[in-house]
Amino acid sequence: MPAKRESKKNDPKDSGKKEKRKEPSEGNAARRKASVAAAVSVVQPGGVDAPVALRERALTHPVFAQPQPTADPTVFRVAHPSDDAAYKEIDKLNAEHKLFPLPFPAPRGGVEPQLSLAQVFGGNTGAVDTVTSSGQLVFHALGDCGNTTGPATQNEVADKMTADFVEPNAAEIPQFALLLGDVVYSFGESKYYYDQFYEPYRNYPAPILACAGNHDGMVSPEAYAKSLAAFLRNFCAQDFVVTPEAGGLSRTAQIQPGVFFTFEAPFARVLVIYSNTLEDPGVISDSHIGRAQLDYLDAALKRVKAEKFKGALLIADHHPPYCAGGHGSSTAMLQQIDEICEANDVWPHAFLSGHAHNYQRFTRTRRTDGTQIPYIVCGNGGHGLIKLAPNGTAPIRAPQVLQAASANSDLVVLENYDDTNYGYLRLVVTASQLRIEYHSASDGLSAKAPNDYVAVDLGARKIAHFVATDMGRPGAAKAARAMLKR
Ligand SMILES: [Fe+2]
Repeated sequence: MPAKRESKKNDPKDSGKKEKRKEPSEGNAARRKASVAAAVSVVQPGGVDAPVALRERALTHPVFAQPQPTADPTVFRVAHPSDDAAYKEIDKLNAEHKLFPLPFPAPRGGVEPQLSLAQVFGGNTGAVDTVTSSGQLVFHALGDCGNTTGPATQNEVADKMTADFVEPNAAEIPQFALLLGDVVYSFGESKYYYDQFYEPYRNYPAPILACAGNHDGMVSPEAYAKSLAAFLRNFCAQDFVVTPEAGGLSRTAQIQPGVFFTFEAPFARVLVIYSNTLEDPGVISDSHIGRAQLDYLDAALKRVKAEKFKGALLIADHHPPYCAGGHGSSTAMLQQIDEICEANDVWPHAFLSGHAHNYQRFTRTRRTDGTQIPYIVCGNGGHGLIKLAPNGTAPIRAPQVLQAASANSDLVVLENYDDTNYGYLRLVVTASQLRIEYHSASDGLSAKAPNDYVAVDLGARKIAHFVATDMGRPGAAKAARAMLKR
């Protein structure tokens, strides 16, 4: 079966055009450290991943958005030619069963690498204090946000996410975004990081973390590239550095310990794992890549138990355990995860994935105790949408049972989906509930009502009705309540 192409030919209209952009200054120069020279490996226009000396600028603190917002560009800086020749070779290797998961470097930090919200803010505890005092954590998640044909769709999504920061109530402002993989197509090339990541998120004023997707780790058979080279440089840096890939923009590289780690924020703990480079299925452990991620999950769940962690526990990766269209379900990967959850008697409150270029929400009801876990696919972050129902077949009505309950299997229901719009998740976590909202980007910047949502009672581990505190707009809520009293 041919490998599913997630890349398209570049629009010939855009070929050769260069965006003219005024490159902004880096902000407060006084806070900068001296520049440091770093030998990095950058994919050259000819497709060769050649080591060249480029300068990474080290800062003492992280930088997120540009000092001043700028208008969206209409074309990419670097034209993206067709990857058809590379995919032809990949198809051949796939047909000959010669494609295997690729090894990746061990993260910094031992068996359970950890990163905190305070750390990604450079030790500034302002975000943590805001979340703690307001009693609510808000963050974004979305996958498959890169594109190869032009910036329009990825900017549509990123612009709406950025508009979520315009809030009268500090409790509703997102603190970070988590990308669910496939940040840069088709092969995570350094030369496309500016167009597919730094440029669309240039005005996003918060830290951005990322699961690595198959396209971030895949290596073109036509390039002498190293798997994940640019991803590691831009998301797993040791310090706050501005990388060459930023192309003159201000955002510093993220300081993740590696491709798997625990991210800790008030009210929530996210276990980020890497499901590797195959189109299907996702693989977190096998004879090619070892069992480090299984040991990691085991250690992370043991710590949840030992610490009696009561917040929302999420697992995030790229390949979805359950998928109703656009890609397959990664059932063997899920079984490995389930076995570790079962052994520790610790289960996530929700599972976030991307990979399929649409939005899908499932509820898994565990046969052993009736607890419920949402499994969300949000892979419509910018790259070409994929319909759940193949062309020529009837559209799928929701809800639908994906997997019936039996003595050996849990009930899994496809509750809702969107395969006609780009969009993203907005997650809200309180001390007692987790709410996952899906927002379609086509609704426009001012639309604040989600197109779909689910809430989980953290203690009961059941789908629940979300208890909103004050509508997110204290003034408006007060006025509405006053009207009720008349
Ligand atoms: Fe993918």
